[in-house]
This record gives sequence, structure tokens and C-alpha cells, in this order.
Amino acid sequence: MAKYIVEKSGPLRGEVSISGSKNSVLPLMAAALLPEDECIIRSVPELRDVALMKEILASLGSEVTEIEEGTLSIHTENITSTQADFNLVNKMRASILVMGALLGRKGIARIPRPGGCAIGKRPIDLHLKGFQALGAIISEKEEYIEAVAGPQGLIGENIYLDFPSVGATENIMMAAVFASGTTYIENAAEEPEIVDLANFLNKMGAKIRGAGTDTIKIEGVTKLHGARHTVIPDRIETATFMLAAAITRGAIAINNCIPDHVKPVIAKLRECGVRIEVHEDSMIVRGDLGPHNAANIKTLPYPGFPTDVQSPFMAYLTTVEGQSEVIETVFENRFMHVTQLDKMGAMIDISGNKAIIRGNSHLRGSQVMATDLRAGAALVLAGFVADGETEVSEIYHIERGYEHFIEKFAKLGGTIRKVDN
Ligand code: EPZ
Repeated sequence: MAKYIVEKSGPLRGEVSISGSKNSVLPLMAAALLPEDECIIRSVPELRDVALMKEILASLGSEVTEIEEGTLSIHTENITSTQADFNLVNKMRASILVMGALLGRKGIARIPRPGGCAIGKRPIDLHLKGFQALGAIISEKEEYIEAVAGPQGLIGENIYLDFPSVGATENIMMAAVFASGTTYIENAAEEPEIVDLANFLNKMGAKIRGAGTDTIKIEGVTKLHGARHTVIPDRIETATFMLAAAITRGAIAINNCIPDHVKPVIAKLRECGVRIEVHEDSMIVRGDLGPHNAANIKTLPYPGFPTDVQSPFMAYLTTVEGQSEVIETVFENRFMHVTQLDKMGAMIDISGNKAIIRGNSHLRGSQVMATDLRAGAALVLAGFVADGETEVSEIYHIERGYEHFIEKFAKLGGTIRKVDN
């Protein structure tokens, strides 16, 4: 299996440009199932998850073509299947996002039950409850879940989400665009990716208001037309490079980003002593001006501190002065990277959903394993400051969500290479 070999690197310095957001492009691609006309999506990152979503859309009847690098045309004149391919769905949980669009457009959707993953069971009860509220009948067959709209099609309803689930908010929004009447999603997720999706749907002729707040109003329409849209920059990749500057005591100019989307990370890094200069669509992050102090983190739904930044931030906290505390409230099992960091010499104790990180760790290269996308990134960051060589395996996780990962770090002076064996 392929691995990354990461060596102790000096402070990372230079410029990096942020790619389109993985967690935005996937729902945007699913939304292109709704209109019969062609959609054009720009700033599409070259990721394994995007390649998988292309396959899934094609298996449902979409014509997906790359017009030029980073620009996709998705034309779904006819839906030829309402059942997503079992093997494809099994590889990527986000494929569940086609369910809302299929149900919205065709009144029926069959999705193999998406697997959980290392960070948690990741149920889809909130998605299904939302569909049921719109009048869909849900039935769990042998190996897939089916949602079928009632005889009059989907009917707008007030839906209160027990938890502000990102995926459930996106799926219900896509199912509701053609529902008769008005749908309200309350306690909705407020992530920037929700706003990006609502903007794309509104360009198609949907009538969605309130995205980015906890209450989203969707007035049903009868038809949508094709639209063009540019994916927002990836806020989690942005945070990853901010932490690369912090942990290596370097200085990185981060271009093509939206600082507003990483406000909790900016605030927390400043609390640790990192200097951050914020401009309209770029930032300069300076970890070279020290000192670096401990800080406490509690992950929360947006606009709270993002769970996806928890593991890379923890890698950084092993190198600061003093003891830090990290509480993970979004996923039930998102400390898998702790044992891997401990193998590198970190001193982290876990009790329940709280981790206590002792600072001033002397990290040393080791053989470690990526347990999820962001944990993998955390281990690479730790590898840049650990003595000796760090071998990171299971790197397919990382390649799912970070475009040109090695090239971007190498350009900043990071010593990292991929070996296939
Ligand atoms: C999205 O996952 C992101 N993925 C995740 O990013 C991110 O960590 C997560 O939102 C939280 O911000 C994509 O956008 C493709 P949730 P999603 O539904 O939609 C529970 C990454 O690294 N829940 O907001 O699956 C769930 O178990 C990935 O890029 C239910 O209980 O997240 C979890 O504990 C990792 N029932 C919590 O809610 C449901 O029906 C948050 O899940 C749905 C979710």
C-alpha cells in the first residue's frame, strides 16, 4: 500500500493557493441531478471523492465531462436509474447526498446503507426523518434503503433537526426544492457549504432563503434550469496550512481562501501566539514569531470550532508551551490519531470525549497510520517537526480530500514523498 515518507523539515515558508472545497463540491455535484439542463461547476478539486461522485452520477444517467482542468459539465437530461451502485456508495459516505436529489426529481431513491467509518457510526436517521416529514415512505430492504414520495409527490413541511447535521440539511434541501408548498428546516446546519449549495440551487431557479442560519425556508417550484457555479475554497484545507505554519514555526501566505470561514481557527491560533494578517481573500500566518502557548478547544457545529480541524490542531498543541485540552462533541470516536501521535512521542491522555495534551513534546519519526482524512494530515504535520523519518500509511484517506497534497507542501519546503509498496 502506498505511504508518505515525511522528514523533519525546517520552518515551512512561501505561498499556497487553496483548492475548491471537498465538502462543497460533493453536494453541488449531487444537486446537478435536479435540473434536466446542463450545469457547469468550476474550481472542482482533483480528489478521489470527486472521481467517485462522477461515477455515481454517471451510473444514474448524468453525462459528466471535464470541460477543462477543474471545470465539470454535468448534464442529467434523464435519470436512468434511481438506485446508486452498491460498490460505489460503500466507498464514500457522501454518496448519500444523491438521495435527496433523486427523491426530489424522481419521487424515488434507493441507496445502499452508507457504512460508518473510523470516526463514528454516522447514521442517516435525520436524513430519513426529513424525507418522511415531506411525505416520503421509507422502507429498509435487504441491502438498501428506499424512499418513495406519496401519491401527490413531496409536500412541504416544517422539519426540526435533532442535530444540525450538515448532510441531512443538504439532503432535505435538495428533496424539498420541488415539494408542493413551503418547507422550513429548523436547527439547520449553518456551514458555508450549506450556503454554497443554496446559492447554486437558487441560480437554478429554486427559492431558498436563510441558508447559513439555523432556519432555512424552501418554497417549492415546478422546474429548475441549468446553472454555472464556482466552488468555494476549502476552509479545512485552509486551516491545515495555517497549522502547517504554526507547527513548523514558519510563515505561509495562504491565497484564494475565505478568512471569514475559518474565524474560530484564526481566534484560537492567535490565542496560542500565532500572528495572522487577514486580507479579503488571503492570509499571512506567522508561526516564526513565537512564543506558542497552550489553548483549550471544544469542537462544535459551525460557527463553532470545526471538528475537521481538531486533529491537525492537536498535532500543533503537542509542540506548544503548557497543557491543552481538546473536547470533541461532534463525532463519538474522533481521537483515533492520538495513539498515532503518542507513537511519535506525544503525551496525550484521553478520558471520554476529552483529550489532555502535554506540550513541549519531543516528537520523533515513527511508522504511523492515517485513520481518517484529517488525522492523516495531522500526522504529516507532526512528521515535519519530528526527528528522523515518519512513515504514514493508509494515505488513501488523505488523497480523498486534499488536492495536490504533496506538491503543495514540497513547494513550502516540506520534505515529503510518496512510495508505493
Ligand atoms: C460533513 O459530514 C462533512 N462531510 C464532514 O467532513 C464533517 O466532519 C461533518 O459534516 C461535520 O462538520 C461532508 O460534508 C462530505 P453531520 P456529515 O451529518 O454530513 C450525527 C471531512 O473530514 N448524525 O453533520 O456526515 C453524526 O453521526 C469529513 O471532510 C446523526 O446522528 O456530518 C455525527 O455525530 C469528515 N444522524 C454528527 O451528527 C444523521 O442522520 C455530525 O454529522 C446525521 C448525522
